[in-house]
Amino acid sequence: MSVAIYPGSFDPPTLGHVDVIERAARVFERVIVCVGSNVRKDSARLSGEDRASLVEEAVGHIENVEVEVMSGLLIDFARKKGIRVVVKGLRDTRDFGAEREQALLNRTMSPDLETIFVVSDVRYSFVSSSAVREIAFHGGDVCKMVPSGILKDVWRLYGRSE
Ligand code: PNS
Repeated sequence: MSVAIYPGSFDPPTLGHVDVIERAARVFERVIVCVGSNVRKDSARLSGEDRASLVEEAVGHIENVEVEVMSGLLIDFARKKGIRVVVKGLRDTRDFGAEREQALLNRTMSPDLETIFVVSDVRYSFVSSSAVREIAFHGGDVCKMVPSGILKDVWRLYGRSE
């Protein structure tokens, strides 16, 4: 069975993430969305479990997708599961620079782990979790950026409580 991991922080998940997951789920028989932490960025506002719940809600319509929380290195998660393919999404050339670096770091540590890139739909090329957090914080409308099923949760969790 062909299996791939799609890792990310999902803080929160966006329509761009869901687009990439749908594309990966059409190519691989099973996709494991793996909710991790990027210690190079500010620490996530929500726990891994809370972010995983949002992802579960966002991808509930895709049959061959599972969601798990990851702590530690991605290569260790992949090795424990016996998975050799990582899928990452690319919105633009800036993403490519950062993702290329991560792919090469992961390959240096684990030569058997292959990273495959999926180009996300152009409609979401400007959508990022950080933009969603900022807009939600200031009370703006993010309904065209996050899946409708998690919109209320995004408001509740990322909006400014006054
Ligand atoms: O959504 P992001 O910030 O692009 O996700 C990054 C993530 C979580 C996939 C990446 O930081 C990651 O794999 N973290 C786990 C720790 C690890 O393996 N780091 C080395 C890869 S450079």
